[in-house]
Amino acid sequence: RTHNLAVIGGDGIGPDVTAAALLAMRAAADRFGFALETTDYELGAEAYLKTGVALGEDTVEALRGHDAIVFGAIGDPRVPPGILERGLIVALRIAFRQSVNIRPVRLYPGITSPVRGVTTENCDLVILRENTEGLYTAGGGSLHTGTPNATALQNSVTTYAATKEIVEFGFQLARARRGHLTLCHKTNILVHAGQLWEQVVAEVGADFPDVTTDYVHVDAMCQHLPMNPGRFDVVVTDNLFGDIISDLGATVQGGLGLAASANYNPTGSAPSMFEPVHGSAPDIAGKGWANPAAAVLSAAMCLAALGERDAALVCEAASASVLAELPTFAGPDMGAETEGLGIRIAERVATIEP
Ligand code: NAI
Ligand code: MG
Repeated sequence: RTHNLAVIGGDGIGPDVTAAALLAMRAAADRFGFALETTDYELGAEAYLKTGVALGEDTVEALRGHDAIVFGAIGDPRVPPGILERGLIVALRIAFRQSVNIRPVRLYPGITSPVRGVTTENCDLVILRENTEGLYTAGGGSLHTGTPNATALQNSVTTYAATKEIVEFGFQLARARRGHLTLCHKTNILVHAGQLWEQVVAEVGADFPDVTTDYVHVDAMCQHLPMNPGRFDVVVTDNLFGDIISDLGATVQGGLGLAASANYNPTGSAPSMFEPVHGSAPDIAGKGWANPAAAVLSAAMCLAALGERDAALVCEAASASVLAELPTFAGPDMGAETEGLGIRIAERVATIEP
């Protein structure tokens, strides 16, 4: 069997960590007897600065033909904010209806969390971030720009259809895990969106009597997630809140260099996209320090979604095992060396028990 992947390395550290992810995926493919076909797409800051286009229609259609997309990171100080983040990555999430952003928060054995009391036993949850709505994709406008009356409007949209899609996914995932789902929102202030989320959780939850539910405000979540991650199993939340609490989750699990994610289309109507939670890290780009583990763990999620369960388990186990040999938490880079670590992880993929 053959899986046909689109590869978008992107900007900054994106191409380096993506190369490590592909190395691990190829080692897993060799071991478990499947083939990977890859096509590189030159998207990101360079392409934008050359062409003035962040993402063309023809590129979207070409990407649509792949089984999955492996994504590094985009973002560059030379490009004004929003053009690539909104015009490329958010645009792809919407075009391919990747409505569920899956962000596991797991402390791997041998990694020390910067938060006291967090252990491998009490830190194993999944944040599900709604990926196509909220404040990130609705319109807005600027009035009286540059005057003392300057006013900015930034709209937020929440639909029943998209909310139901992610909440259903959340209940199914909770059922396959420890049977608990937490809704995270700000229903006491954002009452309109909040009521719709609560209504959908109650409605869908009626079909999952075996899954218990609770509710946590997003501000309180910023206290509970680091102090007591063990109370969470599956957390379902909106786009902005999910963006923020999943970076917090990344810190709890040892840093952004370890945090993986999937932009998942639960219906299979278009390819899903797999990327580390971190961005292009311009501050360390080109230095070869970026930790590739987050990218390899995202590749493992890609393999799982493609039905390659053993390959996924081995990529995850190999990353965790190599990470455990690194010096304890010593800043964002964790003592990583991108290329060398990528090779070590790929070698381990070939031998480690699933
Ligand atoms: P960032 O995630 O790129 O970096 C935050 C900090 O973590 C930096 O100090 C960086 O050096 C460190 N870091 C990140 N990944 C690392 C890794 N693998 N190993 C070691 N250290 C790592 O976030 P920042 O600085 O806010 O954004 C930089 C650019 O990336 C911006 O243009 C932003 O818009 C973009 N961005 C893109 C994302 C994407 O492609 N999905 C996601 C987040 C940000
Ligand atoms: Mg983010």
